[in-house]
Formats: sequence, structure tokens, C-alpha cells
Amino acid sequence: MPDTKKLFIKTYGCQMNVYDSERMAETLGAEGYVVTEVAEEADMVLLNTCHIREKASEKLYSDLGRLRPLKQAKPDLKIGVAGCVAQAEGEEILRRMPLVDLVVGPQSYHRLPGMMGEVAKGKKAVDTDFPAEDKFDHLPERKMLRGPSAFLTVQEGCDKFCAFCVVPYTRGAEVSRPVARLLGEARALVEKGVREITLLGQNVNAYHGEGEGGSWGLARLVRELARIDGLERIRYTTSHPNDMDDDLIAAHGEEAKLMPYLHLPVQSGSDRILKAMNRKHTREQYFRLVERIRAARPDILLSSDFIVGFPGESDADFADTMDLIRQVGFGAAFSFKYSARPGTPAAEKDPVAADIADARLQELQALITSQQRAAQEAMVGREVAVLYEKAGRLPGQMVGKSDHLHAVHVADSEGRVGDLVRVRITASAPNSLAGARLDGSIVA
Ligand code: SAH
Ligand code: SF4
Ligand code: F3S
Repeated sequence: MPDTKKLFIKTYGCQMNVYDSERMAETLGAEGYVVTEVAEEADMVLLNTCHIREKASEKLYSDLGRLRPLKQAKPDLKIGVAGCVAQAEGEEILRRMPLVDLVVGPQSYHRLPGMMGEVAKGKKAVDTDFPAEDKFDHLPERKMLRGPSAFLTVQEGCDKFCAFCVVPYTRGAEVSRPVARLLGEARALVEKGVREITLLGQNVNAYHGEGEGGSWGLARLVRELARIDGLERIRYTTSHPNDMDDDLIAAHGEEAKLMPYLHLPVQSGSDRILKAMNRKHTREQYFRLVERIRAARPDILLSSDFIVGFPGESDADFADTMDLIRQVGFGAAFSFKYSARPGTPAAEKDPVAADIADARLQELQALITSQQRAAQEAMVGREVAVLYEKAGRLPGQMVGKSDHLHAVHVADSEGRVGDLVRVRITASAPNSLAGARLDGSIVA
């Protein structure tokens, strides 16, 4: 019997980290590691970190502090730090936290087995390179699938350099994976039972992968993926407004498998702040874009990200953001208090007072919550398609997502994970919908 060891992974941050954690688990799986959900059982703990806001990145250090007694009780325990804090802070992590054995940046995951070899010899291993080779070409095949819905990273990195953001530094320059690889990975996922794929990228709609006849945009990739039998739903995230091209907007009207939900961060509704953020579009351009998207797909639900308290944000700027939210109407949104990040241009500027930023965040979140509730209420009485992701907490109940990405609890004693069924929505709760399955309703 080969020696099996246990691996515990904790994932912080965005969906790309979720995808990366799965791929790292597969890489280490080839080295004899099996995943455990219990940190105390682990021979290796891997923290896949996020650097986007100060709170996110400080979480690493508090979690490492909590691992100290475990490492003392079990000196053979290996502790690794991956992700965007690893990239941003590198060796500094080892200096601050000597219990860490390994630091690996997001572009070097395929080198983990070699690094583990070093660690096994009692050495420390650090790799925060941006290697010339593509890590995806060196990672083993997908194995760990947790249900009918999967992520697929199609593009990584960002060249936009918004004034507040660390991503261009932690993930590096924008790179698109070749079409053929993505089609291969998607087909393999579908063969394993996946029915919904969410295409991931920090700037996913800037995708320009090498395909037949030259460079393909995201719309063309989506249309090609839609031809895969058994793949029922396609989503993509996160998009930048400036990269929503005509073809992609048209695809929302034409491609039935492309779901009617779009995350389209705007960050602010003030032209002055948008400019200071280096977002490179105006509020008016965002309005026009939303109009075009809604013309192509009238029932599309939009979501966004907002930052409040960006340096220099006045009451009038904030009022413009609130006005934009009222005019557009979002189905959901993430909102954050601006956090100064080391090395970004905005971090040099004077911050907005914390109490003012807190008050703005609350006001904005209250408006978003009311819009989200209204969007959910509007679903009551309607018939929607739901893809079951797991059994519900109550007997005879399944939980899944609707086309519009609402979580739906469905009364269905015969349902199985992976069924895509028609459901009549009967009620709206704060963060989910409830419904009943329509008879004989498996749609695919
Ligand atoms: N690529 C995506 C988002 C990446 S980060 C985009 O272009 O929109 C996810 C969200 O975190 C951002 O949309 C932004 O709202 C927020 N964010 C990024 N940097 C931040 C900072 N320094 N302070 C507060 N929020 C931040
Ligand atoms: Fe960050 Fe802006 Fe790039 Fe998004 S587009 S990842 S917010 S720099
Ligand atoms: Fe965080 Fe890195 Fe994602 S900073 S949001 S984990 S790209």
C-alpha cells in the first residue's frame, strides 16, 4: 500500500482560488495525499489566500497563529501558503511565521510536487515566479468534482490596473488559455457528470484564446462550449464593462445555454471617482451598456461590485453611486469599504474617514438588499429551471440554483443531485426561494 497522507485545504477569496484549490488537491493527490475536512487529522495544511483587502490578507496570519498548537503537537505537520498573499509577500511570510514550510504563488502550483520533496527533507520552499511554462499544461486531469456545477478557469491575470487593486500584481499579466485545452477540459467535466460550467477569469470577457483560425473571443468560446451534449448551462465571471463586446452581448440573446445572469462590476456611480479609480468608462457608458445587454436579453439579472470610501469620495460622489444603483436595478451585489493596499496608486491618497465610509456602506447595502429582495419576489409564481446541487436540510427537499442564480429549496422527494427540473416558485425568503417541482419535469 502506498503511504497515504492527509491534506487539509482552506480557501479564501474568489472563485479562481476555489478552482486552484481543487487543482492543487489533484496535484498533491498524485503524490499520495487525500483530502480531509478536518485540520487536526492533516499531514499537510495548505492555506490558499486572498490579498484583495487588508482583512482578507490578515486572516492568513490569524489562522496561522491558530495552527501553532497543532504544529507543536505534531512536528511532522507541513504548512503551506498558496494564493495571492503568497505571491505578494513571498519570503516575508516565512520571516513572520517560521512555522510555515512552503510558500507558492498562483502561477507555480504545478511545481508543488518538487517543492514538497524539498520540504520532506526539512527545507523551506518558496516559489513566487511567473514561469514561462503554462501551469495548466503540467497539472493532472480533473478529478475532484463536488457536484454538477464546476468552475473552469479560461483566463488569468489582469492588465487593467484599477488604482485600488492588487490583482495585476498578484496574478500577473492577462493570459488566456487555448481553446482546444478548454474544450477538452469541459468535455472531460461533462463526462464526469458536470452539467453547468462557470468560466472564470479576473477579466473573463477579455478572453482572447488561441483557437482555430486565430484568436477567439469569449462569445465564440461560449458558442462552441454550448455545442457539447450534456452541458446544459454556461456562466462566466468576472467581466469588465469595457470588454463587453457586441458578439458577447448578442450571445446572451441567442445562446439558450448562456444563463441570464451577469456580474458586471461598476465600483462607483461617480464619473470623478471612476476616473480616479482608472476604470476607463463613465456612468453614462455603463447605463448604455446595460441598455444594450437588456435589449439582447430582457430578463437578465445584473449584479455588481461596489467600493465605498475610495480616497476623495465626497457625499455627492456617493449620491451618484446610489443613483446609479436605483437607475440600473441589481439582482445582487457585493460591496466593500475601500481598503488601502500596499503598492497600489490609491494607497498614496488620503483616506475617507472610517465612520463616513461605514455609514455609506450601510446605506448602500440596504438599497442593494431591497433590490435583491424585489428581484426574488418577482420570481414568486413563475416557473423556473433548477439544477440540483445537494439534498436540503429537510427530508424530501433538494437545493439548487435557478437560471438567474437564485438558490432554490424544492420540495421533491425523488430528486437527485444533478437533475435539472422545472419548478414553480412559491415563496421568497431573505436569501433563497422556495418552490415545488412540476410533475415529470426533468428538462434535460
Ligand atoms: N476583476 C474584477 C474584480 C476583482 S476583485 C473586476 O474587475 O471587477 C473583486 C472586488 O473586490 C472588486 O470588484 C472590488 O469591488 C473589490 N476590491 C478590489 N480591491 C479592493 C480594495 N482595495 N478595497 C476594497 N475593495 C476592493
Ligand atoms: Fe482589479 Fe480592476 Fe483588474 Fe478587476 S479590472 S482585477 S478590479 S485591476
Ligand atoms: Fe483574492 Fe487573489 Fe482572488 S487577491 S480575489 S484570491 S485573485
